[in-house]
Amino acid sequence: MRITVIGTGYLGAVHAAGMAEFGHEVLGVDIDPVKIERLSQGQTTIFEPGFPELLRRNIDAGRLSFSTSLEEAAAFGDVHFICVGTPQKPGTNAADMKYIDAVIHGLAPHLHRPCLVVGKSTVPVGTARRLARLISELSPVGAEAEVAWNPEFLREGFAVQDTLQPDRLVTGTASSRAELVLKDVYSSVIDAGTPHIATDLATAELVKVSANAFLATKISFINAISEVCEAAGADIMPLAAALGHDSRIGPRFLVPGVGFGGGCLPKDIRAFMARAEELGVSEALDFLRNVDRVNTNSRHNAVDLAETMLEDSLTGKRIAVLGAAFKPNSDDVRDSPALHVAQALHERGANVRVHDPEAIDNARAAHPALNYALDIDKAIEGSELVVHLTEWPVYRQLDPVSVVGLASVPRILDARNALDIDRWRDAGWKVRAMGRPV
Ligand code: UGA
Repeated sequence: MRITVIGTGYLGAVHAAGMAEFGHEVLGVDIDPVKIERLSQGQTTIFEPGFPELLRRNIDAGRLSFSTSLEEAAAFGDVHFICVGTPQKPGTNAADMKYIDAVIHGLAPHLHRPCLVVGKSTVPVGTARRLARLISELSPVGAEAEVAWNPEFLREGFAVQDTLQPDRLVTGTASSRAELVLKDVYSSVIDAGTPHIATDLATAELVKVSANAFLATKISFINAISEVCEAAGADIMPLAAALGHDSRIGPRFLVPGVGFGGGCLPKDIRAFMARAEELGVSEALDFLRNVDRVNTNSRHNAVDLAETMLEDSLTGKRIAVLGAAFKPNSDDVRDSPALHVAQALHERGANVRVHDPEAIDNARAAHPALNYALDIDKAIEGSELVVHLTEWPVYRQLDPVSVVGLASVPRILDARNALDIDRWRDAGWKVRAMGRPV
């Protein structure tokens, strides 16, 4: 099949290469000529394990090319995937639809033959129907250019695996013809036995934001209980383990710490609340306000705990921050809890030095006032406190004995509950971890 993927950011770039890997002929389209030039040469614009190989393999096979032209896209494709961002609209909680609308206005007037326009972005429910009306007004083929919704569940750091072997496939369509086209597009995924939920447009839109809201709720739940553990002198780690063994609950997304960040979960729960309000059911999602609040509190709690460990004063204290990315295996620092905490420590007077294996350049651009160290030893050297904020494997593999002499005072706060804290204690470190007793 001839497929275009419009928007070659995180989601679009990996989706385009994934579609080519399934054997389709793919054109990736973006308004950014620099990005398109780099991708055309097989150079990746994001840090994502396995993606450089996937990209080059499919460019070399002649199945994947790139362009900045929506007119070319319209002429090329039978199926057009829309993968542009839906960020939080400044000054509101709602999603900003300007990028999606711009794509439709640029593409639709060039659609001269029947085709399927498939949304993948996270959008307020009702968007697909609105876009279908807009396209049928703007396109020369009218309603023969149909709209479908096919939400994407990929996680940063696992984007290639999640694209090629997803947990499930969700397609929302308004006709059996559109459903058949999507079954063709995803025949390799369906043939591999992946569960396929074929549904209507609104349900498909809602599946995505509900999944992210559920994950955010699970994280804030354990962080809320973690606060109670702190106050009661109980231990969140065995508690979380005990909950996770209940197969109805499950152990994943139950790791207490500084909570969720990134370009999806925080803005998605806010946009979901904003949409519920428009639909007159805001009370149904009231709990998400607490999910958001608990998440912000988790960051504040880490700063407060750091201050307690430093005899109640951060002024002039040298702090090593391990981690800047919003999660490991990513160089993404959007709404990163790690950088939020680092910045707050700096603003309360501490001298903060941040290390991250991949995200230093992005972190420096977003938080220029912080100091950065290119290796872990340099970050820890002379520090009075180490704060572990993003659980990269390289930090778990640190030998506490070999770095104890580097610190001026060997103190560590494990704000991600990912280190073997007994080993650190045995090596002479004073250790605290979120939600765990002294
Ligand atoms: C999330 C969803 O997991 C994907 O399914 C979805 O496709 C994506 O958003 C999206 O909407 O595009 P992602 O933002 O890549 O994916 O990251 P997650 O792995 O969900 O982690 C989100 C945040 O939660 C991170 O900051 C992570 O550190 C934090 N987290 C995760 C916790 O604080 N505790 C946990 O137990 C798990």
